[in-house]
Order: sequence, then C-alpha cells, then structure tokens
Amino acid sequence: MKNLTVVNNPLVKRDVTILRDKRTESHEFRAALNRVSYTIATEIGKGIELVEYDVETPLEITKGYRLKKQIVLVPVLRAGLSMVSSFLDMIPDAKVGHIGLQRDEKTLEPIDYYYKTPKNLDDSLTILLDPMLATGGSAVASFKYLKERGAQNCVLACLIAAPEGVKKMLDEHPEVPIYTAALDRQLNERGFIMPGLGDAGDRTFGTF
Ligand code: PRP
Repeated sequence: MKNLTVVNNPLVKRDVTILRDKRTESHEFRAALNRVSYTIATEIGKGIELVEYDVETPLEITKGYRLKKQIVLVPVLRAGLSMVSSFLDMIPDAKVGHIGLQRDEKTLEPIDYYYKTPKNLDDSLTILLDPMLATGGSAVASFKYLKERGAQNCVLACLIAAPEGVKKMLDEHPEVPIYTAALDRQLNERGFIMPGLGDAGDRTFGTF
C-alpha cells in the first residue's frame, strides 16, 4: 500500500510474537514494545533530512551532520506513552507533545480529553506515536489537530495496523507515511485488530 512501510526484520517478527502472546506479562510486553519501537525509530530515521557542517575531531576537520528539522514526538495517550522512551533514546533532542484520546467502546469514535504540543509545528517533523491503528479514527483526529497547529511534515509510527485504519489514513491524510511492525488481517465487530495483540494500553499498564 502507498505510504505504508511494514518493517521487515526477524528481530521485530520475534518481538511482535511476544506482544501477541496472551501469556506475556506487562513487564515483558513493555520490554518487547521498547525494542520494536527502537527499530521503527531507526526505520523512520532513514528518511530524516540532514544539514552538513564541519566538525573538528581531535585530529582534523571533517564533514558532520545535524538534523535539519526539530523533531516533535506526539504520543497518543495512553498506549503511545510506551513508545516515547525508545524514540527519545534515538532522538534525545526531540520535543514531546501529548494528545489524549479515548476510543468510545460502542461508537468506536475517539473522544478527546487532553492536548499539549509545542505551539508552532510549521518547521518540525512531527511523529505521532500510537501502537494501534485500528479504525484509524484516533490517528486521523490527531493529525487534524496537529495540522491546525501548523504541522506540515508528519509521520505515523505504530506497531500493529489494520487495513481499515491504513485506508482511513490514506483517505484523510494521504501524504503522511505510516510505519508499522505488522499489518494485520482485519478488525472484528468490536473494532479490535485481528489477530492483533488485544489492547496495548491495558497490556502495557496492567489495567485489565
Ligand atoms: C486504543 C489505541 C489507539 C486507538 C486505536 O486506545 O491505543 O489510540 O485505540 O483505535 P482507532 O484506530 O480505532 O482509533 P484506547 O482508546 O484503548 O485508549 P488507551 O490507549 O488509553 O488504552
């Protein structure tokens, strides 16, 4: 699918299996999610623009690089929080905004309850972090908000995506690249990704 990158890496496949396994405890779930997030951050990093400058080593001057744009990470509460530390390890000078959304269990529509991002996102690369792309309602609403704040260069980082959510993103925000560790079969009647991994927020934080 256009604009969709499914990270193809044996280590990620192993960790996605750990995430899917219902016997996996929260601490193991968080650890696997961290490892996958590193790989996704690295994959997204391949497309990040650089500016060249001269750097002085202890021996001579050589070509060096810095990131061209400020990077802003935006986790979608709650589950997106679980991806922040890995991304910050890879991009320590990133700013972090937050978007609070809770999906209504009946209508599956996202209900917003919190927003806090840097004011002007015009010159930034904004990376939305959310392990689950199910109906796509949360991601679509998040990018609508971020674009209202000026975001022009956006990326979605998730772990598990459903074809329905990818399609909705392509319909509503076609220019936003999506990175995921797995593209699953479909949503079930309750809006859960199948085969999926259950609810990433609950499994991360042990709230069953
Ligand atoms: C889950 C998930 C996404 C959203 C995906 O959050 O973490 O944010 O649903 O679904 P969608 O693509 O259909 O919008 P949830 O509402 O369970 O909140 P939580 O992260 O606080 O558990």
